[in-house]
Amino acid sequence: MNKIKVMSVFGTRPEAIKMAPLVKMLEKDERFESIVCVTAQHREMLDSVLEIFDIVPQYDLNIMAHGQTIVDISNKVLKGVDEVIKKCKPSIVLVHGDTSTTLNGALAAFYNQVPVGHVEAGLRSYDIYSPFPEEANRKLTGVITNLHFAPTETNKKNLLDEGIKEENIFKTGNTVIDALLNVVHENYVFEDDKLNNIDFDNKKVILLTTHRRENWGKPMENIFEAMVTLVKENNDVEIIFPMHKNPTIRELAHRCFDKYIDRVHLIEQLEYIEFTNLMAKVYLIMTDSGGIQEEAPALGKPVMVLRTETERPEAVEAGTVKLVGVDKDEIINLANELINNNEDYDNMAQASNPYGDGKACERIIEILYNTLREDD
Ligand code: UD1
Ligand code: UDP
Repeated sequence: MNKIKVMSVFGTRPEAIKMAPLVKMLEKDERFESIVCVTAQHREMLDSVLEIFDIVPQYDLNIMAHGQTIVDISNKVLKGVDEVIKKCKPSIVLVHGDTSTTLNGALAAFYNQVPVGHVEAGLRSYDIYSPFPEEANRKLTGVITNLHFAPTETNKKNLLDEGIKEENIFKTGNTVIDALLNVVHENYVFEDDKLNNIDFDNKKVILLTTHRRENWGKPMENIFEAMVTLVKENNDVEIIFPMHKNPTIRELAHRCFDKYIDRVHLIEQLEYIEFTNLMAKVYLIMTDSGGIQEEAPALGKPVMVLRTETERPEAVEAGTVKLVGVDKDEIINLANELINNNEDYDNMAQASNPYGDGKACERIIEILYNTLREDD
């Protein structure tokens, strides 16, 4: 029997984290030949995930350059993936989510008339400029996708509403949970001693992450100013901010936080295992990240989402996540409630997991097999 050639294309950290368990499972499955093509839209942040999951890509387009635009990324991904597809002739190309790698990887497959499988399909905010450019990326990818792997019922419904045929949509759960369940441990000791020295039991430690393009400038300034106010108003609050590698964010963070370094810990991006275990130990998470909104509910950690919309309404409905926006006073008010009101806090700190049972990869693989196998 000929093996089914599955080529996975990804390039940024979140795509790598969510594709890693699928790639590992494909590698072990004799029915498939797994080919990994990384664009390296992210370099260090991608490499750290590849190392943790022990993935050695057959193709590495190495496209990252500082200061590059979305158009620069798109050009390089489209051309690079096209060349790899022509060489490998895969049976299907898998892409994940909504980055520039996702859309252009899918487009390269489409131009070669190779079927596209879209992992994490059907998320929608219904605002084309927020998140930017991700909302458009995932919609456009959907148009040229053959197999849509939708994490939740809501995601499936979004695709149906856009006229995608039901027989091409598969509700699988999110692979983020498959990855997460293997790495968080109760007695985890951090590799970074700075984190071991933080008093998680007696301080209210807030984990902050922010990187979205639509938050650059004034919204991000509001977020940082709100954090400074929270530290000033609450003696027991400390903030940990692993700074995204993007220079735009780092410059602003230093400008706003450098005076408060005893209680605002500006640190480098953490490796995935360190980060997820840190999530499990902190009091509260504030973020504009997509993936973190999915991981935190499974860990029972309240999340304040620093955005005006979300394509992940399931965790909001479950009560673990609140959409707070980017207004300074609103951030301060809600955070103060959660810091000082136990009942409000406890209501949010309920472990719930609307994103799956950790078996999404298994399901995706069986769908790939059933759809692509050549009948004897
Ligand atoms: C990208 C995705 C976004 C995703 C995010 C996850 C696009 C347009 N954006 O945003 O959807 O949510 O990744 O984090 O696809 N850098 C490094 N080292 C790294 C990674 C980034 O130095 O390992 C710096 C580089 O200067 C790079 C810049 O960050 O040019 C921006 O990277 P880019 O991929 O363009 O955008 P992100 O903001 O990371
Ligand atoms: N993450 C990480 N180290 C960090 C911050 C985040 O490993 O310092 C992980 C996090 O657990 C999640 C993913 O990165 O799985 C989210 O990535 P990001 O916020 O960059 O992108 P998004 O999900 O918003 O696209």
